[in-house]
Amino acid sequence: MSKKVEGFSKFSKAEKIEWITHMHFDNSENAKKLINEYNHSNPEIQKLHDDFVENSLTNFYFPLAVAPNFVINGSTYSVPMAIEESSVIAAASRSAKFWASRGGFKADVLGTEKIGQVHFLFKGKAEKLNLFFKKNKKRLIESAEDITKNMRRRNGGITSIELRDKTEMIDNYFQLHLTFETIDSMGANFINSCLERIAKKLQSEALEYDNFTYEEKDIEVVMSILSNYVPKCIVQASVNCPIDKLKVKSDLSSHGFAEKFVKAIEISKNEPYRAVTNNKGIMNGIDAVLIATGNDFRAIEAAAHAYATKEGSYRGLTDAYIKGSDFVFEIKLPMAIGTVGGLTQLHPMVKWSMELLGNPNSRTLMEIIAVVGLAQNFAAVQSLITSGIQKGHMKMHLLNILNQLKATKIQKEDAILFFKNRTVSYSRVSDFLKSKS
Ligand code: MEV
Repeated sequence: MSKKVEGFSKFSKAEKIEWITHMHFDNSENAKKLINEYNHSNPEIQKLHDDFVENSLTNFYFPLAVAPNFVINGSTYSVPMAIEESSVIAAASRSAKFWASRGGFKADVLGTEKIGQVHFLFKGKAEKLNLFFKKNKKRLIESAEDITKNMRRRNGGITSIELRDKTEMIDNYFQLHLTFETIDSMGANFINSCLERIAKKLQSEALEYDNFTYEEKDIEVVMSILSNYVPKCIVQASVNCPIDKLKVKSDLSSHGFAEKFVKAIEISKNEPYRAVTNNKGIMNGIDAVLIATGNDFRAIEAAAHAYATKEGSYRGLTDAYIKGSDFVFEIKLPMAIGTVGGLTQLHPMVKWSMELLGNPNSRTLMEIIAVVGLAQNFAAVQSLITSGIQKGHMKMHLLNILNQLKATKIQKEDAILFFKNRTVSYSRVSDFLKSKS
């Protein structure tokens, strides 16, 4: 039986579910049952979610958790985090509490510049294109006036436009490189709309330009798109405290801990294999807040990893050092996010999360997110250089294993007690349950 289908997106939702479960599942009734169980009981909420994308069948849940006690620039936040990985929330909360009693986190936005480019081909001399660009620069920007009107009212809009010669890279390849200020919105739609308008204007003005030959008039726009790489849309966060106050649960002295921590971060700055894992741990926290606040975590991931290579090789995003008698730990990374537009006004749980955070503007949300990334990294490195990561991980994972093995409430309580100081593994937990039945 062919599993290809024509016009699937035109099927009703019920028809889609029927077709998918019938074609792809041994027990289509069970598959349908699960889909229905995950469908929201409130049809209005379900419709809202179905309208986010095409071909929606049901929902896919992540837990929404909260990490309390984040003291950032003197304010205390309970941070919403949507994530499935067992130990992330516990680690963030532990770190938040630890630093809350040591002055809290400091964070600062260093810039909010966004970037967009029109990539085009021009079959002529760069000098001629330059003259044309100089003559038409203002007109190009003005062509997007109706789109930028509202943003300009809020002190945003297009902040610069530049012609870039990329012909050394690719024959005939030039760019219009634009910068934007998008205030509290991530700005993707705004930037892309401006770029597409300006690209059209570029072509129409070239056609009218008397100094161009027939070939030169024929500017080919390859694409117009924002860049998710935003090295001037940067947030930094830090913590510091006297080394003496750095006491953590371990055999290490405060000084021993500080030195080992700094060494671990030095390794992540120099060894790409470690750097990737280090940054993955940072993104555990960052992605979870981005999802809870309705932001595009793929964009922030892409930008963060590109930023991690800005010095030529892939490096850890955090820095740790000892300054006099203080331990200092910092992060700096790009973050193009929004607190208006996109999902922020649509998704009820996003609205809830934003209210939980006190409805921050985009700068404050950038700071909160960077802090969570730093806190997450602190917790991970703290575990790695002391007890090791598995102790905490497997404790959290124990519940997953117990659920997988369908343990009863009493069995779970017994197992948690039994494995308090023992190594957890699937087979050990399974043996334990068998021994109790
Ligand atoms: C696990 O999701 C993340 C860690 O591996 C991060 C790290 O090693 O720094 C614990």
